[in-house]
Amino acid sequence: MFDKIYDFAGEIRTVNIAKGNVRFVPVLYLKTALAHIDTMPHHNFDAIVEKYVEMNIAHPFREGNGRATRIWLDLSLKHAIKQVIDWNQIDKDAYLSAMQRSVVNALDIKTRLKHALTDAINDRTLFMTGIDVSYFYEGYCEFKTAEL
Ligand SMILES: Nc1ncnc2c1ncn2[C@@H]1O[C@H](COP(=O)(O)OP(=O)(O)O)[C@@H](O)[C@H]1O
Ligand SMILES: [Mg+2]
Repeated sequence: MFDKIYDFAGEIRTVNIAKGNVRFVPVLYLKTALAHIDTMPHHNFDAIVEKYVEMNIAHPFREGNGRATRIWLDLSLKHAIKQVIDWNQIDKDAYLSAMQRSVVNALDIKTRLKHALTDAINDRTLFMTGIDVSYFYEGYCEFKTAEL
């Protein structure tokens, strides 16, 4: 996804990283953590969000984890429960604080995502504006997908 932007695109990180006061899985344990995540089920809403939270704690890439995993989340929900997230319904600060909290307890992020579920799984505009929101969460708002 980020091939043209980052030279480390697609590669598992080789440095330890943190955000706020949260340290993501140390490089030393990353392979083991990812192997465990691979075995986690993703057959219903709870399982998918729990796997998403673990992916965030692992933070396998140097950059792009949030944007990549939100696409994974949508595709997994679409496949498993025939619903997707309407990201426009989730406020940036609320999302980020729920993700910060999810390291300890996933209830807040689960509730927020559940309230934003929609059946509009084939609505291209909804999906593309969701990408815009995903970039906005990370502080990027130079481009809108509709203008590209
Ligand atoms: N303090 C925090 N604790 C846990 N997770 C966080 C925290 N801050 C941000 N995150 C998660 O990390 C994601 C950003 O990760 P990053 O690799 O920078 O991805 P991006 O491409 O989206 O910039 C956010 O979308 C959020 O899910
Ligand atoms: Mg980032």
